[in-house]
Amino acid sequence: MNLLEPVGIPDTEAVMGWRSDFPILRESVHGKPLVYLDNAATTQKPASVIAAEQAYYEHDNANVHRGVHLLSQRATDAYEGARARIARFIGAAHEKEIVYTRGTTEAINLVAQSYARPRLQPGDEVLITAMEHHSNIVPWQLVCAQTGALLKVTPIDDDGTLDLDVYERLLGPRTRMAAVSHASNALGTVNPLAQMIELAHARGVPVLVDGAQAIAHLPVDVAALDCDFYAFSGHKIYGPTGIGALYAKAALLDAMPPWQGGGDMIRSVTFEKTEYNVIPWRFEAGTPNIAGAIGLGAALDYVSVIGLEVAQRHEADLLAYANAALRAMPNVRIIGMAKQKLGIVSFVMENAHAHDIGTILDQCGVAVRTGHHCAMPVMERYGVPATVRASFALYNTRAEVDALLDGLARVEEVFPL
Ligand SMILES: Cc1ncc(COP(=O)(O)O)c(C=O)c1O
Repeated sequence: MNLLEPVGIPDTEAVMGWRSDFPILRESVHGKPLVYLDNAATTQKPASVIAAEQAYYEHDNANVHRGVHLLSQRATDAYEGARARIARFIGAAHEKEIVYTRGTTEAINLVAQSYARPRLQPGDEVLITAMEHHSNIVPWQLVCAQTGALLKVTPIDDDGTLDLDVYERLLGPRTRMAAVSHASNALGTVNPLAQMIELAHARGVPVLVDGAQAIAHLPVDVAALDCDFYAFSGHKIYGPTGIGALYAKAALLDAMPPWQGGGDMIRSVTFEKTEYNVIPWRFEAGTPNIAGAIGLGAALDYVSVIGLEVAQRHEADLLAYANAALRAMPNVRIIGMAKQKLGIVSFVMENAHAHDIGTILDQCGVAVRTGHHCAMPVMERYGVPATVRASFALYNTRAEVDALLDGLARVEEVFPL
């Protein structure tokens, strides 16, 4: 299905129902109703997620795994139950393939340090793309500096699409790892993952997918994709901050040494020798974010009831609506016009700096992100210091896009051409 095709979009009543699930959407800012269009940075949380965290603290709070008492057992069941829900949500074969992390960034660092570092030799190559978030660049730069490996970068076309011919050529005899975003936070581009993974696997190269942006907007099936690693953050999918997950094929995880040492990741410790726990706990040193995991489980339940396909069509409709209006504005340049896009529109205006636009929009109650979006190489690629980014979630409406457009009209008044 073309992601831009707004077919079978939910009716307004359904969307208004979803909105009412999010208490924060009733807030006002600067005396105006909040129009929250900064969802690529973080999403808002439905009442069910907030309630799940509160219920844990009110009724079950205890440390996991180590206690024989009832509260500890309840906390452990809830924590491990959420892991099973994550596995089901992304189509993992087994819950042992899900490692809790603080988020996408920590998951990628774990793979770079525990999987890649022991395998990389001087002159080996790690292949990323020019549209990566810093979180999928810097961990690879660090491991390259540690091992003498080289970082290679697949370029992007003017419209924000990866150059797959170059990607294929860059998958060379020294490539040991490919790391690619499922979708770009700065451009919205959705990458042809299945094809990219197949090309890499044909050369024996494992693939890590940065799913930070895709997770809340596209159904993910790691088994069908056959990716080796998939990283995502809870807060991007209506869940809490400080919790996320790494999916990794069991055989790969089994062969990886621990990354951090401490409690919970051991089987036995003496001063002479430590035996490590089995996967996934081998990678979860210390008391974990138990409430966060439970909140994430509740968030996945929430979106599962709505259905990501339904939400995706609604967001595609908002994107098409915003795109049409922005394209009609002569002083607006949209950065990233790939055919396959999430509901993210990044743009610059001829007469005003992104930060000024963001400030004026804020005064109108409209929250957007301005800046480099932790993707400075993308800004460099398009020759801009910063963009304004409006990013949609399932609770946004066309009326909110109109509020954005009204705000931009105000920007034009303040900064006339
Ligand atoms: C594409 C992408 N990758 C990685 C990250 C990092 O996610 P986190 O800060 O939750 O670890 C983000 C966050 O914006 C992102 O958009």
